[in-house]
Amino acid sequence: MTHHNAMAPKTLHPDSLAVHAGRDDLTALGVHALPLDFSSTNPLPDVEIGGLSYEVLATGGLPLEGGSNVYARLWNPTVARFEEALARLEHAEEAVAFSSGMAALTAVLLSLAAGRHVVAVRPLYGGTDHLLASGLLGADVTFCGPDEVVASLRDDTALVVLETPANPSLDLVDVQAVVAAAGVVPVLVDNTFATPVLQRPLDLGAALSLHSATKYVGGHGDVVGGVVACDAATAAALRRTRAITGAVMHPLSAYLLHRGLATLPVRMRAQQDAACRIADWLAGRAEVSAVHFPGLPGCDPHGLVGTQQDGPGAMIAIRLAGGYEAAAALTSHVRLFTHAVSLGSVDSLIQHPASLTHRPVQAHAKPSDALVRLSIGLEHPDDLIADLAQALDAVGAERIDVDAAALA
Ligand SMILES: Cc1ncc(COP(=O)(O)O)c(C=O)c1O
Repeated sequence: MTHHNAMAPKTLHPDSLAVHAGRDDLTALGVHALPLDFSSTNPLPDVEIGGLSYEVLATGGLPLEGGSNVYARLWNPTVARFEEALARLEHAEEAVAFSSGMAALTAVLLSLAAGRHVVAVRPLYGGTDHLLASGLLGADVTFCGPDEVVASLRDDTALVVLETPANPSLDLVDVQAVVAAAGVVPVLVDNTFATPVLQRPLDLGAALSLHSATKYVGGHGDVVGGVVACDAATAAALRRTRAITGAVMHPLSAYLLHRGLATLPVRMRAQQDAACRIADWLAGRAEVSAVHFPGLPGCDPHGLVGTQQDGPGAMIAIRLAGGYEAAAALTSHVRLFTHAVSLGSVDSLIQHPASLTHRPVQAHAKPSDALVRLSIGLEHPDDLIADLAQALDAVGAERIDVDAAALA
């Protein structure tokens, strides 16, 4: 690759890195915006160099000096730029991008854990839980709580998987404690909710940090992608799996994700500020029996906000006092929030995990029917609070009607 890191990875403030990482050679190239390469195939200098280039890339290596990129399933320079930028933000040696977050997790499982054992700390995103429970990729999985990692390890355990903050309940897991419990077994942290702006799992001892880049990294609800940050040897194994199985990121997605990285710190902090206000306000509403938000007292028993992660983030989950009916009603009464799956966009989203994102999860591990998940966007918090107020008023009024009918 021809990227020259003019600046050492940690000399810039992360905000500056978000704007400049993966762009160090642009001035030398005489361009200002990220170059896009849509080639599906590439010219070969001759048969011998073509073949050697293929050999290196198909086995997970980096492009040969004077070689060819050969074929877009093996290597794409626009994707590689995004990977370089993400790796620097995550304090990782390298990163590997995939067609979705689930494709990224699939590649990790195929590369590190096929035919072996995985310990999965619940709660997890429903799709992650589903993939792990399915047995589809040939790994035997033990689900456990954060304090049960040691007891769940086996001689053939190849990976420990955790999410913090976890989807959808915003539970925080002490990464350093799990890393200590895992011993020599690599730990993967799903960093989708925190983003590298708030949390750098590799600095905490994790071996891999995974993102659904579909969420905050992209930030505008118009890209599906996944990325894993890790050491160079693991990255090579992941690229080999990607080349063989084909779950590549499209260059246009990489371009949009790389562009999204530039505003990620500003978006994250603004969305987080709004989430803090909204969580406080929700805690005072009678229709809400519990607010799950890492910034509220009681939601962070191990004091991880301010140490492990730099702030609470911008995701909130609430339990409705009126149970499933109230939760379902809330999603249909909001006007500014969109009732839709996904999160991390500039616009606010609301969804009911038990019936949607976490539908495939085994009954005993499924989130409560009364739980609703909110992804706070960049609208003014006054407008978001006004929307939730009118929707909760409507839910409360319906409930009074139901109670009255029950008494009649
Ligand atoms: C925490 C987390 N991890 C992984 C994924 C999967 O990512 P994708 O939908 O990009 O495949 C999601 C998607 O919602 C998620 O929320």
